[in-house]
Amino acid sequence: MSQDQDRTFIVTFVGVIAVLVVVTIILIALAVMTRGPGHIAEERETIEYQRAERNLQPPGAVRLTGEPMPELAVAEPEPAAADLTPQDINQNYCMSCHATGVMNAPVTGTEGDWTARLGERGFDGLVQNAIDGIGAMPPRGGNPRLSDDEIRETVRYMLEESGISVN
Ligand code: HEC
Repeated sequence: MSQDQDRTFIVTFVGVIAVLVVVTIILIALAVMTRGPGHIAEERETIEYQRAERNLQPPGAVRLTGEPMPELAVAEPEPAAADLTPQDINQNYCMSCHATGVMNAPVTGTEGDWTARLGERGFDGLVQNAIDGIGAMPPRGGNPRLSDDEIRETVRYMLEESGISVN
């Protein structure tokens, strides 16, 4: 090969590389302009949200094939505490301790267990302690769903069962 041929080759080679570099830069610029990097991140976020939403569905509620879901048997919701009478609440949530005096709980039905407490704190004081918890008794007897009013009426009921009536 002569030196002239070498030079021609090198010039052509460098020229082709230069053209390719320019074309690449133009393509990248076009890509960024039409679908900027922000766009891609946004799309990915949407897909991630959709996936997370799907993952949060209860088991059996998702079909990846896209067929409609058959009707699922839905469990009856637990009756709201609001549907319960003071008598029910007492029976369900309080008597476990107050029937027999577990951990020195005042026994419902035994007047003497209540009179001193009532004398000291009054009805409102008893209700407040039943709401906040006292000694070994957890707040609201361990049932945070019970409202203040429900606790109040239940304490009234407990006292009545013990032969004490309060206004
Ligand atoms: C886990 C056992 C337990 C349950 C359940 C429970 N209690 Fe008690 N309760 C206690 C104990 C123990 C005491 C006595 C605490 C003390 O004086 O140290 C007490 C005390 C009380 C008192 C007297 C508070 C005072 O100021 O002297 C009231 C009123 C009361 N409970 C109401 C209720 C009501 C209403 C419920 C149901 C919603 C309930 N308790 C459920 C254990 C329980």
